[in-house]
Amino acid sequence: MLNDVEKCLISREQIAEKVALLGQQISEDYRGKDLIVVGILKGAVVFLSDLIREISIPLYIDFMAVSSYGSSTESSGVVRILNDLDMSIEGMHVLIVEDIVDTGLTLKYLVENLKNRKAASVKVCTLLEKPARRKVKVDLDYNGFVIPDEFAVGYGLDYNNKYRSLPGIYVLKKEIYSS
Ligand code: IMP
Ligand code: MG
Repeated sequence: MLNDVEKCLISREQIAEKVALLGQQISEDYRGKDLIVVGILKGAVVFLSDLIREISIPLYIDFMAVSSYGSSTESSGVVRILNDLDMSIEGMHVLIVEDIVDTGLTLKYLVENLKNRKAASVKVCTLLEKPARRKVKVDLDYNGFVIPDEFAVGYGLDYNNKYRSLPGIYVLKKEIYSS
């Protein structure tokens, strides 16, 4: 897999340090509240599993799978729920955990969708954001890293469902996209 990689953007050590900070901050902010962490499959799975172990208050976990229609590197803004939450979030404080915010279209849809279910609050925690490509405004309450306009893989993020298990965040060689 590392043969396909052009460079490392963020190392596993840098990620671990940041995830610990995010976990501490979330623990303070949600103390005494009913917190449910909603992971967006599949990209957020690695981030979520590290993050929850840095959060020191009780929490629930649930998942959603969504697909945004479009090509493998470009989302169209039309979001479809493939797999919905198991739990009711009425009255709960919801923290959406996402791998990356690119255009923001997926997250905008998710925040609105979950707010409509009578959650007490809906906030967002994302590992990465790419401000260069934002199309809609979404408030990122917790954000790990801002990255340049390059397609990132690793630590849960994929290209054609590959590279999710790389321990850091990497940029692929150009020939991988064009082949
Ligand atoms: P958005 O709706 O354009 O913000 O796209 C969000 C989704 O697109 C993310 O949840 C990722 O699954 C995917 N995505 C966007 N940029 C990247 C990237 O650089 N690498 C891997 N996946 C990405
Ligand atoms: Mg995703």
